[in-house]
Amino acid sequence: AQLEKGGYDTFMLKEIFEQPTTLRDCLRGRITGDCSRVTLSGVELNKDRFLQAERITLVACGTSWHAALIGKRLIQDFCQIPVEVEYASEFRYGNPVLNDRDIVIAISQSGETADTLAAIQLAKDKGAFVYGVCNVVGASIPRATDSGTYIHVGPEIGVASTKAFTGQVTVLTLLALAVGQLRGVIDSSTVQSVATALNAMPGTIEETLKCNDAVQKLSMFFTYAHNFIYLGRGYNYPTALEGALKLKEISYIHAEGYPAAEMKHGPIALIDQEMPSVIIAPSDSLYDKIISNVQQVKSRGGAVVAIVSKGNTAMKDIANFCIEIPDVPECLTPLVASIPLQLLAYYIAVNKGKNVDQPRNLAKSVTVE
Ligand code: G6P
Repeated sequence: AQLEKGGYDTFMLKEIFEQPTTLRDCLRGRITGDCSRVTLSGVELNKDRFLQAERITLVACGTSWHAALIGKRLIQDFCQIPVEVEYASEFRYGNPVLNDRDIVIAISQSGETADTLAAIQLAKDKGAFVYGVCNVVGASIPRATDSGTYIHVGPEIGVASTKAFTGQVTVLTLLALAVGQLRGVIDSSTVQSVATALNAMPGTIEETLKCNDAVQKLSMFFTYAHNFIYLGRGYNYPTALEGALKLKEISYIHAEGYPAAEMKHGPIALIDQEMPSVIIAPSDSLYDKIISNVQQVKSRGGAVVAIVSKGNTAMKDIANFCIEIPDVPECLTPLVASIPLQLLAYYIAVNKGKNVDQPRNLAKSVTVE
């Protein structure tokens, strides 16, 4: 087992550090050399379905559901198709209205999740075209779907999903670009800039992982916290949900992810010296808005860990801890921002002596209802 962990203490840490490689594998052959075009065979082979689609519904569970939320925004931005996101377990019993102009995209690392599989069956029965975004080749979900794209990140052993999440978000970005091009609704300069940055993502993640030591150090301050709140907006609201889920899963600390601006409608009442916040605040279109959330937390005595873009000096004066991430186009910020959040959850769990690879009560894939 030590050998399989490639010199790391745990599978989870190995999988976190593997992400530059796994994203390279995930991207291979999918962006043209000049970054002017994205090609996914699953889209190419089903052009008519993607051209005629009137709506896309993303279904998934757990971490894959968080990737779906990011996918929704990507598809809206690049394809101008209405998108919905549903928990597979709710979708399957929610009497969804679907027809043959619907595309249902099922996202699953394992390809075996029972609720997701049942959602696929229901969508097919109602005439929708079902597309899979999976990791495990030949699993039940890729076999049940009409077509799909594998994320190709290799076996994920740690129960808490890390490299599969970044692989899913990467494939959803590729899919949104490919479908946007197919439908002729995305301008070539957008494709060029996003595809170029996505192509460079393995190196960018490598760079991001340099925050490891700083995150490990700051994790010490939070080992005994009982509650955490994670805040983000826009593209990074789902990142906040995923960061909070990682912490819950492996450190057993209660954590809530919230859209930053919704904090004032409830969660702000919880904030005191005992309740730290993690605030995802890259230099994007919503940066100015989120700064005021940081101030609100600080003025109530809460500690703030801010995830900021490289070169941001202003935040250093306000937050207790700043972790820098490389500057990337806004739609790609979840990929880089999730790295320090994975590490933060990891080190807090290690500080507490928890079994990070096999947290209590959780299974890698949930094949029963
Ligand atoms: C379980 C795992 C999670 C995972 C979820 C969905 O709860 O512990 O890490 O996100 O199932 O799994 P899937 O394989 O469908 O992505």
